[in-house]
Amino acid sequence: MKMIIHGTAYIDGELQNRYIGIKDGKIKFVKKHYKGNEKVKELEEIILPGGIDLHVHFRDPGQTEKEDFFTGSKSAAFGGITAVADMPNNHPPIKTLDNFEKKLEIAKEKSCIDFALYSLIGDEIEDLTERTGIFKIYLSSSTNIGKEISEDGIKKVFENGGKIAFHCEDEQYFGSSSEDLPGYNQFRPPESEVNSIRSLSDLPEGPKRACHVSTKEGLMEAKSQGLAVEVAPHHLFLNEEAFLGGFGKVNPPLRTQDDQIALWESYERGDIEFLASDHAPHLENEKTEFVDAPPGIPGVETMYPLLLNSVSMGNISLSTVIETIAERPAEYLNVKKGKIKEGYDADLVMVDFRRIESIKRENLHSKAGWSPFEGFNAVFPIHVMSRGEYLIKDNEFIGEKGRGEFISAKI
Ligand code: NCD
Ligand code: ZN
Ligand code: ZN
Repeated sequence: MKMIIHGTAYIDGELQNRYIGIKDGKIKFVKKHYKGNEKVKELEEIILPGGIDLHVHFRDPGQTEKEDFFTGSKSAAFGGITAVADMPNNHPPIKTLDNFEKKLEIAKEKSCIDFALYSLIGDEIEDLTERTGIFKIYLSSSTNIGKEISEDGIKKVFENGGKIAFHCEDEQYFGSSSEDLPGYNQFRPPESEVNSIRSLSDLPEGPKRACHVSTKEGLMEAKSQGLAVEVAPHHLFLNEEAFLGGFGKVNPPLRTQDDQIALWESYERGDIEFLASDHAPHLENEKTEFVDAPPGIPGVETMYPLLLNSVSMGNISLSTVIETIAERPAEYLNVKKGKIKEGYDADLVMVDFRRIESIKRENLHSKAGWSPFEGFNAVFPIHVMSRGEYLIKDNEFIGEKGRGEFISAKI
């Protein structure tokens, strides 16, 4: 055995005292007692599964001044995220097999964590479905991207066993302009989200996921259709009243406090399948003028730590957090991750729930260089391990650029 660790770990839905044997990057055993003579590393921290963020924009290729696959993946690692799925709104957009393969090479060269890559729906759908299995459709324009829907394409993706994530906003309901966050909420109003989600029922049947659902009505509509719902931490922790100006500008917008409360209630009830950060970094100087600010906020490093703080405050159960941040995302990507279980990848984070820190921009690692959660309490992991290798040890990054492996979500 390469390593045996012993401590309190999240296993089968609860915290249990166990010995965990790790070899060749995998969990070889989980035992109550260990009698062998190999060295055991005693851990004081709580051992949790690594997080999997199904929605990040690492901007590589095309906008590497905002982020690249190394800085994005390193920022993820510091936040206990050991795998990501990266969105295709790059320059050039990831819509052809050729662009997909080029992006894959970049990610392989730079990522320090495992990664999946979404494609847009273009012409080579069979090949792309074979290669990646996960697609993104924008039902309205957003950063770098216009609306594009092809029913034929959607059918082909589903016929070939692929899955589609949707950015749900309907432009018909958009207003004319806005100068602050409440104005932006009206500019891209809740009806725009609800109607866009409603329109998904007219599209071919298959595994559809509504990304970053931000309103109570949107959530109800998605649930009534049996769609998988993804919620972003900024919609759980912030609302339109935040004094963030352009730094709070994001699509879909920050909503009212009522919506925020409704999202928490749904989260507690178990109505939200996935938490994903929608990590969409833009630079500080781009975000200072509200009207011109590109929408999107960084969050891959702060999502799990914010939620772990909510657990320590008693606001949400640990099992709900782990289900939505690790277990279900792993199932979505068809990988043996997200659980501390024999045969699964040894992707682990070790935390001390008593070590509550305030989020500070200077401690974060995205090229964005700022966070809308500045000053919020969070529980950052002390150690982070990916396939049995430490990426973060005693809060220091010791991971290697380019060690991350591609995850094909193809069934
Ligand atoms: C995202 C981005 O910047 O890439 N922006 C955002 O406001 N969420 C795109 C997106 O997910 O819509
Ligand atoms: Zn989106
Ligand atoms: Zn996004």
